Amino acid sequence: MSTFEYQSGFGNEFATEAVAGALPEGRNSPQCAAHGLYAEQLSGTAFTAPRHANRRSWLYRIRPAAMHEPFAMLRGRNFHNRFDEVPATPNQLRWDPWPLPGTPSDFVDGLVTIAGNGGPAAQTGIGIHVYAANRSMHGRYFCDADGELLIVPQLGRLRVATEFGVLEIEPQEVVVIPRGVRFRVDLPDGEARGYVAENFGAMLRLPDLGPIGSNGLANARDFLTPVAAYEDVDGDFELLTKFQGHLWSAKIDHSPLDVVAWHGNCAPYKYDLRRFNTIGSISYDHPDPSIFLVLHSPSDTPGTSNMDFVIFPPRWLVAEDTFRPPWFHRNVASEFMGLVHGAYDAKAGGFVPGGASLHNSMSGHGPDAASFDKASAADTAKPDHIVDTMAFMFETRAVLRPTQQALESPQLQRDYHQCWQGLKKNFRLPRNQPQDTPR
Ligand SMILES: [Fe+2]
Repeated sequence: MSTFEYQSGFGNEFATEAVAGALPEGRNSPQCAAHGLYAEQLSGTAFTAPRHANRRSWLYRIRPAAMHEPFAMLRGRNFHNRFDEVPATPNQLRWDPWPLPGTPSDFVDGLVTIAGNGGPAAQTGIGIHVYAANRSMHGRYFCDADGELLIVPQLGRLRVATEFGVLEIEPQEVVVIPRGVRFRVDLPDGEARGYVAENFGAMLRLPDLGPIGSNGLANARDFLTPVAAYEDVDGDFELLTKFQGHLWSAKIDHSPLDVVAWHGNCAPYKYDLRRFNTIGSISYDHPDPSIFLVLHSPSDTPGTSNMDFVIFPPRWLVAEDTFRPPWFHRNVASEFMGLVHGAYDAKAGGFVPGGASLHNSMSGHGPDAASFDKASAADTAKPDHIVDTMAFMFETRAVLRPTQQALESPQLQRDYHQCWQGLKKNFRLPRNQPQDTPR
């Protein structure tokens, strides 16, 4: 398992140094650095954001982030924010897993954009991408100036070396990298595949719990932020940045991961989805999936989300006299789902680990015919234990517009709608009801 050190808590004012004395203490100004380091602030929210929402960190580094050659735009990439290439379809969509690359491809090379809404210029909406990679990033570093990155690995561990320290995650864990933070992804297992949400809007936060109380869902103490770790390395390196939907490349003659100490509350973190405190009905009926909410990015409109990250983890189903799987529904929100591990209880087949589905605003969906028949015949006097599963959803208030490459992909299941065609017409009038009565 990981040998890296972490600090526990969500959005805390962390303080960490890889070299003793590198952090200013007491009345020393945070802008006067020790040991010949440069002080640099990274802000994640507006300077004047309310204190409870204000996120920023001070970095004490060997060279300032400004030191690199000019960026030049890279063209012809599959990683972008062009969400208006083709008309958004009202059809239900589902994809098979994307294949691992046949040629050397690192995390950035392997990013393919599937769908999105809004964009980085307006700082609203999300981009949804998948990645498939078979080599570590060698001599290159990346940052996303357009959005915060939520990375959900499905296959293979990721060792994410950032300006703030190193995080290692495996499938069923996630990592969040704030907008603009530079990092490199190494692959301890040689290959990796997963999903990425690129959040253009407000930074992800823990949701309020309302009547649930002061504990439950994802607990703050289970979020882990790295301790400071730095690279003092010179060489011919590449710094990639995503800026306004395009990938840009610049030469840099040193590792940008040269932060010796830092303090603040704007930093990468990871979370183990298996630690989620799952809450559900103990009487009847299936609650709304908001009970599975891990992280939340609010929109400008109260009650609607720029993005919600929701999971469907192992759990007991004990509700009686009810239909236990997720019901049939049409939502104003749009739902992109992925499967990290195992099987999803509302689909008997076709939705497999590494694949994905997209049910846009007001598109009807729900359990397939086989799952409906099985659940309808289930004896709900007995509890059911759903095990070995981890599905997730990126949910957002605005329509998710698939990219052209996603709709033309051979992974798109063009017969997905067939999974509902076997639902039988079960309606029968009561025996004493006249057949020709207008109703
Ligand atoms: Fe749904």
